[in-house]
Amino acid sequence: MPNQKPVFISFYKALLFIIFTNVALVTSKSTIEPCSNSDSCNSLLGYTLYTDLKVAEVASLFQVDPISILTANAIDISYPDVENHILPAQLFIKIPILCSCVDGIRKSVSTNYKTRPQDTLSSIADSIYAGLVSADQIREANSIADPTVLDVGENLLVPLPCTCFNNTDNGLPAIYLSYVVKPVDTLAGIAASYSTTITDLMNVNAMGSSSVKAGDILAVPLSACASNFPKYASDRGLIVPNGSYAITASHCVQCSCGPGSLNLYCTPASLAVLFKHAM
Ligand SMILES: *[C@@H]1O[C@H](CO)[C@@H](O)[C@H](O)[C@H]1NC(C)=O
Ligand SMILES: *[C@@H]1O[C@H](CO)[C@@H](O)[C@H](O)[C@H]1NC(C)=O
Repeated sequence: MPNQKPVFISFYKALLFIIFTNVALVTSKSTIEPCSNSDSCNSLLGYTLYTDLKVAEVASLFQVDPISILTANAIDISYPDVENHILPAQLFIKIPILCSCVDGIRKSVSTNYKTRPQDTLSSIADSIYAGLVSADQIREANSIADPTVLDVGENLLVPLPCTCFNNTDNGLPAIYLSYVVKPVDTLAGIAASYSTTITDLMNVNAMGSSSVKAGDILAVPLSACASNFPKYASDRGLIVPNGSYAITASHCVQCSCGPGSLNLYCTPASLAVLFKHAM
């Protein structure tokens, strides 16, 4: 609970905050996917590390399985102590997250952040979560009346952008990456880095022009291999992006996708993987 302050001060600050953030809202765009059912789907976040972090620390920041971060980035998980491997500041990685449907919009709501001394909503949004969320969105999601007062150890819901678009793009299997545009980016450059076209990015993101601004969040379709084995309930929707792999079927099976053909290639998982999960 936010601490109780005289009502008029909180109201005045909230008003200033609303005026300020409405100005900010006009300048940053992100792609919204309406949804109607309660099914969740698989999606990726493009994340740039704000500091050196262990794999396990990144996993805890997003509350995902460290192994899933490693496999989504095609990092070998067979060597010892891989969860304590240090990823350097500014490294760009893909974080696999579950994309839910909340109030008719696709959104990831499975991430919570515990505040530390010195944190502000802006530092959490812009630095720690690298622009994937805005200070205003965190404020709204947690009904924070006075954003200037954050208690240390407060547990904040961090809503994150995601889209699935039925895990297809132009009729082919795809998984969508929420990508925060950097100052140096152009749409052509982003299209080239992810083996897609400017036209496709403009269609997916319903863009009227090909100009992008730093801080915009684009949905970038990544070609993927989709499974059609209905045997394992939890793996029904297994979808693996080109150039990466996944561990599935209670960690017994390792499935990879590409780079040559986009057919899912599955083998029994190595003993190293089984051992990690037995610990
Ligand atoms: C979603 O994709 C499935 C096949 O993967 C298809 O059967 C279904 O019609 C699609 N739904 C929509 C709304 O496009
Ligand atoms: C899959 O990835 C490889 C590089 O890893 C790339 O050369 C190829 O074009 C990609 N395929 C598709 C369909 O995107």
